Formats: sequence, structure tokens, C-alpha cells
Amino acid sequence: DFEKMNVTKIKKAKNNKKLTMITAYDALFAKLFEEIADMILVGDSLNMSFAGKPDTLSATLDQMIYHTNAVCTGAPKAFVILDMPFGTYNNENDALNNAVKVYQETSAAAVKIEGGEDRAHIIKHLTSNSIAVMGHIGLMPQYVRSEGGYKVRGKTPEDTEQLIKDAIAVEKAGAFAVVIEGVMSDAAKKISEAVSIPTIGIGAGNVTDGQVLVWSDMLGFFEEFKPKFVRHYMNGAETVKEAVNQYRSDVQDSSFPAKEEEY
Ligand code: KIV
Ligand code: NA
Repeated sequence: DFEKMNVTKIKKAKNNKKLTMITAYDALFAKLFEEIADMILVGDSLNMSFAGKPDTLSATLDQMIYHTNAVCTGAPKAFVILDMPFGTYNNENDALNNAVKVYQETSAAAVKIEGGEDRAHIIKHLTSNSIAVMGHIGLMPQYVRSEGGYKVRGKTPEDTEQLIKDAIAVEKAGAFAVVIEGVMSDAAKKISEAVSIPTIGIGAGNVTDGQVLVWSDMLGFFEEFKPKFVRHYMNGAETVKEAVNQYRSDVQDSSFPAKEEEY
């Protein structure tokens, strides 16, 4: 029942069908997710999960373009979103030049940018120049150094009000959907009800119009720690280590390769 997505279908999914988004960074895994997920996000989380850095801030646009090309090549039927990295949309002109570069150098369907009311003018500039934009509000990892850490949002009525204003500003600016990250589920519910575009949650409860998870987190490849909002659908790290251990032991006792694996 796979159906290739576009912004119209994504917007229509609100109150109809829950949207499933997953990250991918390469052609191999993107291919596996292609006909299952509604959207594939080439998240700047790759800077942490793949490049081993402590946060997302040092990812560059050229790196994001490289990974997006791999994902689009592996999953040509997927609706692929490139996560604009830190510092590439600080003003309207930079944002548009960089988003145009993304459209010229990849077949990504859309870009994602972090920010609420403070960045609505930038989203507006992109959408009025024919760039499809997904918003991202709540806990915004690109603000980690300036905020002094990752903080769950929507814990007070005032903060919840601000998040609702952020979501409405992002919608008014023309975004087709918005990620809500690290938000108390009561607040996420109010935010989702306040806008007519789909909200895609991560660490925001089951009240949003869809969910997103980082693939290497949900498949259990990341062993350091498990955030509360992650569910492990596979024990990736364990499975891989068992397999590689088996390989080593087969090499050591010469049972690999076997006769039928020889030329
Ligand atoms: O970079 C990323 O993977 C993200 C999602 C977690 C929303 O921004
Ligand atoms: Na991101």
C-alpha cells in the first residue's frame, strides 16, 4: 500500500492517517525504508550518530548534500527532506541561496529548519520562493550551545503559549509540516490542535500527527545511552557484534571460507 508522498498528501494526512518519518544517511538503509516510511529525513543528527561528534552544530551544507544524494539515489520513491545545518539560514538571503543549492544539487523534496516565531520570516522567504519547508520547534538541537543544554519544553503555561505561537508562525509562513521535539505531551497536544499542518513528534507523546525517530537509535545501534523517548525495535549493536564475533571465530578456525565459498 505504498504511496509516494508529496506536500499536498502530507498536509491532507492531518486527522486522517498518522505519518511515519525516519532518518537515513545513506543509500543502503534509505532503500530499506523507502516503501515503508512516509518521509525520510536526512537529519543533521548524522553529525552525532555517524560522525561521532558531541552535537549537530559542525555539520556542513556540503556534507548534508552528499548524504542526501546517497539517500535519494537509494530511495528514489521516498519523500526526502534535507535538514538545513547550523549557520546556513541565519538570514533570508543565505537561507534562500543555500536552499536553492539543495534543490539544484539534490532531488530532495523539502528542507527542514529549526526555529519558531524568531525564524518565521526566513521560512516565509523560502516558501514564497518555491522551497518546501518543514519547521522544527520545541527542543531545537542547534540551540544547544546557546541554551546551555537540551531542555524539555512546555513545562509551564507561558512556555506552552510560546510554543503554540511558534507553531502558528511556522504554519503562517507556509511550512507544510512541523517537527515538535522534546515537548511535554500535554503541550504537544495543544500545539497540534492549534495548527492545521501535521505535527511530527519526537519525545512529544502520541498526540502529534506523526512520529520521527533516528534510525540508528530505534534499531538499537547506539549503545551509549537510551533517551526516554526512544523505543528499540531491534538490538542492532548486539546483533552486529555477535555476527562480527562469529566471523572472527570462523576466520580463526579456518571454517570461513568453506569449499562452496571458494573459486
Ligand atoms: O536531525 C534529526 O535527525 C532531526 C530529527 C530528530 C527530527 O532533526
Ligand atoms: Na536535526
